[in-house]
Amino acid sequence: MGLYNDTVMDHFMNPRNVGDLENPDGTGTYGSPVCGDMMQIQIKVKDDVITDAKFKTFGCGSAIASSSMATSMIIGKSIDEALAISNKQIIEELGGLPAVKVHCSVLADHAIKSAIYDYAQKNGKTYEGLAGFDPDADEDDHEHIIEE
Ligand code: FES
Repeated sequence: MGLYNDTVMDHFMNPRNVGDLENPDGTGTYGSPVCGDMMQIQIKVKDDVITDAKFKTFGCGSAIASSSMATSMIIGKSIDEALAISNKQIIEELGGLPAVKVHCSVLADHAIKSAIYDYAQKNGKTYEGLAGFDPDADEDDHEHIIEE
């Protein structure tokens, strides 16, 4: 029954890494142009490795599950590895999302990149994975859309 698999339901009902970080090294916020839902992701970085991440999502269950999974995926990863994570991979780790909910995973993908962008700006760093990234751009370029 239902639209959502057990992994999605688990991350929705028991989301990991909810809340705020004390003195975050980077904060990214993104609002979906599709539905208006909002997500904030904060990161702690040491020696170019993401040591902690937290999120707050004002959005649907799929957005909560996506941000829970996304923060779990980036903790312990290098910035470059985290930047390489696509919304498609978040969906794969969740075991799939319904097609109409794909944009919810884009929120998590974009919020991670925004948090890293903020960190990079504050620390004068550049990363290849951020080339061309604009935290304020609307996600209307379709590059993240995947076909079911
Ligand atoms: Fe918009 Fe899920 S419906 S983030």
